Amino acid sequence: MTADAGSEPGQDIALTARAHVTRRRLLTAGVGFAGLAASTTAVYAGAVEPEGLIVTRYAPAPRTWPAGQKLTITAIADLHAGGPDMQIEHVREVVDRANALHSDLIVLLGDFIAWYKFPFVRVPDPLWAAELKRLSAPLGAWAVLGNHDWWHGLPGVRGALASAGIPILENDAVLLGPPRQKFWLAGLGDQLAYPIGRGRFLGVDDLPWTMTKIKTDDPVLLLAHEPDIFPRVPARVALTLAGHTHGGQVRVPLIWPLFVPSKYGARYAYGHVIEHGRHLIVSGGLGTSTIPARLGVPPEILHITLGA
Ligand SMILES: [Fe+2]
Repeated sequence: MTADAGSEPGQDIALTARAHVTRRRLLTAGVGFAGLAASTTAVYAGAVEPEGLIVTRYAPAPRTWPAGQKLTITAIADLHAGGPDMQIEHVREVVDRANALHSDLIVLLGDFIAWYKFPFVRVPDPLWAAELKRLSAPLGAWAVLGNHDWWHGLPGVRGALASAGIPILENDAVLLGPPRQKFWLAGLGDQLAYPIGRGRFLGVDDLPWTMTKIKTDDPVLLLAHEPDIFPRVPARVALTLAGHTHGGQVRVPLIWPLFVPSKYGARYAYGHVIEHGRHLIVSGGLGTSTIPARLGVPPEILHITLGA
């Protein structure tokens, strides 16, 4: 395109120079703003969001859960006690908020301890166990173990939960609830218990064996640390609860599904999933692992209502 007729060469030069300066300034300002936004986001992800705490509520209606059999559940996943963002004060706050929900049942979905790629001072197991001991619900508090429990301190975690009076369900099930309102609470062994190299693992999960523990027609809840078991969960199970993924933990747009620790990517990364009439709820969890940062997935406690 040619210059406008009548415009003088000097003006063109001045305009071009001004436009060049303006573009350069804009570019510099853009880079500066992007840098500021990135550093602000990093500070938020590292120091603000992980310290938060929200309650996320679900009211699923699985067809295998009897209508009118009301049950409320509080779920605590991936506490990762001892990390920079889960010091004992934060654990205490989690327990206080969980108790304040006054649910019939409390479940803990594994990964009680923290691990990072840098040295850090761990909160001793007896300290966080003393806080979990305060969890209170009419039908009790029950746990499954997670991969970090297996990898980074299994005897300590088992001892801590025992001292807190919280039973661990490992390929086992218990019948809970009052007469005519009974249900089975089943818990699966961890699916990633033993790393065997090249990103492969040997699990201690045994779903078929777990299902043999269910002796009546009462409805079934299943606890599993990793959600990847879900495609194999039989329709007999009304609701599966899982954690592990941290909802992606740092949800950088577009690329976060690549970093979800699940062979299914984003499919079971977070929230309420219904497949072929079967229900799964995946918690975004509370603490952090590997890196002490969260973005777009604030620490959460779940409150679930069934049969309402
Ligand atoms: Fe995990």
